[in-house]
Amino acid sequence: MYESFFGLEKKPFEITPDPAFMYASQQHKEALASLIYGVKEKKGLMVLTGEVGTGKTLLVRCLLQMLDEGTKTAYIINPRLSLMEFFHSIAHEFDLGGEFSSKAAFLDRINGFLLDTAAKGHRALLIVDEAQNLGLPILEEIRLLMNLETSKQKLLQVILAGQPELHKIIEFSCMRQFKQRISLRAHLNPLSRQETALYIRRRLEVAGSSKGEIFERRSVSLIHKYSSGIPRLINVVCDNSLLTAYALGKKRVEPAVVKEVIGDLEGKGLKRAGSLVWPRDERDLVQEWTMPRNSGRQSGTRWVWAAGALAVAFAGAWVALGGGAQWIPRVWAGLKRFLDLAG
Ligand SMILES: Nc1ncnc2c1ncn2[C@@H]1O[C@H](COP(=O)(O)OP(=O)(O)O)[C@@H](O)[C@H]1O
Ligand SMILES: [Mg+2]
Repeated sequence: MYESFFGLEKKPFEITPDPAFMYASQQHKEALASLIYGVKEKKGLMVLTGEVGTGKTLLVRCLLQMLDEGTKTAYIINPRLSLMEFFHSIAHEFDLGGEFSSKAAFLDRINGFLLDTAAKGHRALLIVDEAQNLGLPILEEIRLLMNLETSKQKLLQVILAGQPELHKIIEFSCMRQFKQRISLRAHLNPLSRQETALYIRRRLEVAGSSKGEIFERRSVSLIHKYSSGIPRLINVVCDNSLLTAYALGKKRVEPAVVKEVIGDLEGKGLKRAGSLVWPRDERDLVQEWTMPRNSGRQSGTRWVWAAGALAVAFAGAWVALGGGAQWIPRVWAGLKRFLDLAG
């Protein structure tokens, strides 16, 4: 939408992890290098952790791009699966073919595949993303799969990528054997203020920006402060800031634009708008919830009395003004009906 306005060929701050946009910070470089080394050196179990949005999935995708034909990979993105579903996903990813009805059948199939792969001088790598969601039974099965071996070598390498909770799971006493197998750990921290500036610049360059800085220096500081250096949040603020600056016809993203975007993301705009159309505050709500249950009926009765009194006053005024004595019995009957209702 705003791409051509800023001289860009594509959107620079999409949320999907696209390796083409990789900004290789020192820690991203180191983590990637360790994983490549780990795979090449046939390290058994590798663990990559980092807070949500720090770039784990992107890093794994970069790794996948860099591996050659000799590495057969199974990449499991969503591991909230039952045991059999997990086995089926691995079988699908390794292209083991066909259905199998039992765990024994799966183990037989994967054992054959791993032996075959090793015989060809290739390696087999299982990568599980969002691994903090893995249940303990599946983690135990992964451990057992890593036990498959020939007399010379282990047959399956594993990378678990996940949020820092993964470390806590690995620390459980029942995970002792699992923990002992970890031969490599890498962790991604949020970006520093300086890295945030370089990150934004890198993504803009990949998107085709040839001009100087689109984001003012103070804007970058605000973005870093709000996002705490988490790339996914940086993307959200930057994308919205470009859109707002475009709507205002500004070629540079000033701090005021970033402040407005952050305010909107935090829902401040919504609260402001809400208070205009819905002026109730918490006390009103509490009062409504704590009113006696029959309070509705009471106020209804009050309305009947008020309507009756109005009718009497109206009829009285009419008679006084000479509206006709012949109407008095009818008015009286009507009044009685009101009194009955109210009683
Ligand atoms: N080093 C980086 N270079 C470029 N983009 C990055 C980097 N790290 C994260 N991102 C971007 O931030 C967003 C979140 O990254 P992602 O890999 O999904 O995080 P995680 O898997 O840790 O939750 C994605 O849009 C991704 O492209
Ligand atoms: Mg991810």
